[in-house]
Amino acid sequence: MSDTSLSALLEHFPTPFYLFDTETLRRRVDHLRDVLPQDTALCYAMKANPFLTRELSGMVERLEICSPGEYAICRQLELPPSQFVISGVYKDPQWMDDLVRQPDAEQMICTVESMTQFHLLRETAGRYGRKLSLLLRLTSGSQFGLERPEIEKILSQPHPLLHIRGIQYFSGTQKTSVKRLARELRMLEEVLAALQEKFGPLEELELGPGFPVSYFADDAKEDEGVLVQAGELLGQLNFAGKLTLELGRSIAAGCGQYVTRVVDRKINQGQNYAIVDGGIHHLVYFGQSMAMRRPHISLYPPRPEAEPQNWNICGALCTVNDILVKQLPLSNLEIGDVLVFENTGAYCMTEGIGLFLSRSLPQILLRRPSGQVTSLRDPFPTRILNTPNY
Ligand SMILES: Cc1ncc(COP(=O)(O)O)c(C=O)c1O
Repeated sequence: MSDTSLSALLEHFPTPFYLFDTETLRRRVDHLRDVLPQDTALCYAMKANPFLTRELSGMVERLEICSPGEYAICRQLELPPSQFVISGVYKDPQWMDDLVRQPDAEQMICTVESMTQFHLLRETAGRYGRKLSLLLRLTSGSQFGLERPEIEKILSQPHPLLHIRGIQYFSGTQKTSVKRLARELRMLEEVLAALQEKFGPLEELELGPGFPVSYFADDAKEDEGVLVQAGELLGQLNFAGKLTLELGRSIAAGCGQYVTRVVDRKINQGQNYAIVDGGIHHLVYFGQSMAMRRPHISLYPPRPEAEPQNWNICGALCTVNDILVKQLPLSNLEIGDVLVFENTGAYCMTEGIGLFLSRSLPQILLRRPSGQVTSLRDPFPTRILNTPNY
């Protein structure tokens, strides 16, 4: 972001706000495609940031949808059902009924996370005579997915209304170990080969590799290295079917900035404190705890590097936990200055304790390649949600 455009935005919009940049997003998707094996499809896990779903629908093959709310967002945005992967550990009967009743349900894919879900989907498909495409989620040893014998049981009972396309697998986010990925790929090759030998060809594997993002100044900056090595490993995957990667963080994080303003400053017992109008309710970085780590931040307007002082940057919540950064060296910090936090495009804005203290949720701005900025959400007062219905 050039200083000029930031100053223009600061004149037009109240802080705090998020700014998502579509050009950066596009470049990221292009980069992922360059590094990953040819023909690898991408599925955007929209939980990472629902506000990017429309833009990403035009850049990736699929959208992973995990709740009735996410599904309603995609419907409201009129995104193509052929991109929908209906996922999630809780698929309630009412949601499945609403979904399968639609004729375009046949264009979607549903994942199966348990035998209960399998029976629900089979029953609902039968009720409306709709043919459903399914991916069976293999568990990685958590509450998610099916055990291998359950997958075998499902595959051994072909049903005219259920088309089993293949396997889905996700074992965690922010994974920096290439060795672990290699182990998981070997396990998946073995599982897929055994299943195909018994039940015939499977068309696809949808894999969430949990590619990491280097959020902090002291990070080993492993993200690009992991990506390149993962690309090589995936290129050697011994599976003839289609490969789709389900990604959230690695696609979306880099396009986001969170902009918050210094509203007060003080020295308490020898420590410099700056209070900003945002806080931890808007800004969650994976791996951050009590501001022990320093994300990438810049000060606006920039000041000469002369004699920086260390500042503890604290948010607007009345809790001692609301510290965004400790001992951040800044030159001549003043009330009215603005701090820009980088890499806030994924999860930051949905994982915070947004209802605490009834403060407003920030405005959300989207910058298009033309430079035009659109507001995707105005500041939203959470007091509405915290006011009892008397
Ligand atoms: C099933 C599934 N796929 C993909 C993702 C996206 O993970 P990430 O943001 O690490 O890419 C998640 C995240 O929780 C998930 O649960």
